[in-house]
Amino acid sequence: MPRIRIDAARLNRSLDELGRFGETPEGMQRIAFSPADIQGREYTIGLMRQAGMEVRIDPAGNIIGRRPGSEPGLPAIAMGSHTDTVPSGGKYDGALGVMGAVECVQTLTDSNIALRHPVEALVFTNEEGTSFHRWLIGSRAMAGLLEAEDRDPVDDVGVTLTTRMADIGGDWPRAAEATRRTDELAAYFELHIEQGPTLHQSGTPIGVVTGITGRATFEVEIIGTANHAGTTPMTHRHDAMVSASKLVLAINKMAADLEICRVSTVGSIEAHPNAVNVIPGTVKIGLEFRDLSMDALAAGEKELRRAAAQICQEDGVRMEIYRHRFTNSVPIENEMQDLVEAASNQAGLANMRVPSGAGHDAQAIATITKMAMLFVPSTDGISHAPQEYSTPEDCANGTQVLLELLMLADDRL
Ligand code: GLV
Ligand code: MN
Ligand code: MN
Repeated sequence: MPRIRIDAARLNRSLDELGRFGETPEGMQRIAFSPADIQGREYTIGLMRQAGMEVRIDPAGNIIGRRPGSEPGLPAIAMGSHTDTVPSGGKYDGALGVMGAVECVQTLTDSNIALRHPVEALVFTNEEGTSFHRWLIGSRAMAGLLEAEDRDPVDDVGVTLTTRMADIGGDWPRAAEATRRTDELAAYFELHIEQGPTLHQSGTPIGVVTGITGRATFEVEIIGTANHAGTTPMTHRHDAMVSASKLVLAINKMAADLEICRVSTVGSIEAHPNAVNVIPGTVKIGLEFRDLSMDALAAGEKELRRAAAQICQEDGVRMEIYRHRFTNSVPIENEMQDLVEAASNQAGLANMRVPSGAGHDAQAIATITKMAMLFVPSTDGISHAPQEYSTPEDCANGTQVLLELLMLADDRL
């Protein structure tokens, strides 16, 4: 039986209210650093203060709400996620982990329960990486995992990360100071929607996450020859769109047929000059592939380069391959999985073990502290789309388990 209960109605109200910032008929547009993102962050800071937390923003723009513990000198137990969305995204990805964390603290405060450890609610900056094509910006800064390319990138409209960070209260040139010492945090817990079909299909309310997938991202520029679409014979073309299409199919096949990695996706495409009567001269595609094994990602890169070289030879085009990021996969310790299972049992909810096919801030934070994740069902397994939906009951279940987890960890860690 739960010792104390979260307020399900309040949690779902917060989720709805946060979901109004950036809401459009085409889904959520709360892209990191946008006005909607800034409003969502301010809304969240307000809730943290109401819950009795002290709030600060670190140089990487991460929001850190903190409630003191009763025993001096103990490291904090942190919970959190992100409030930015992908373009035309959903209301629950990231938002649930943040609103859930704040609800847990509000519940403790309302019930006058002192925990031994300080408790932190965290909002990580630019998890999705829609801005700057650099994801997990805030959590990687906190974990000390920034790379040379993160130093001061510019976004698609030419504005630097330093400028964007200043808009949200960060101080990017001092990003190194956002890094936490390993003795500052006792553990980090992230509640998230599954974003896949397993829990929904099996009717299981709670997923105990076993590990987080690794991810490789690339951009490929295919350079052919622009020419007149009416006068150029089919035999005399170097059509970048046709070569790009062959590459798209080869990338799909990499996971779908060759099973080199678990999933592979071309998610973006840009044609130049993008006119109906011009043979495309250049095409840019953005792609990624993912697997729990980093060897599989390396094999994927090899296959990408092999397929690209073959198409270049066949079609007489050139391809520039830009390697963006390789994010390590992260297994979750059995002991931490067992703690989530115990919390789920405490809340009286059935659970099953599931891997995470999506990436999360937790995979960066796992390099500086003990980490666990729990999932709730995503209706029909849809996410990163406007139809993303988890029922109010699912959201409340996950938040209740998060609270049980926090209290178990406070006892045991
Ligand atoms: C992050 O949301 C991802 O793309 O996995
Ligand atoms: Mn996402
Ligand atoms: Mn997410």
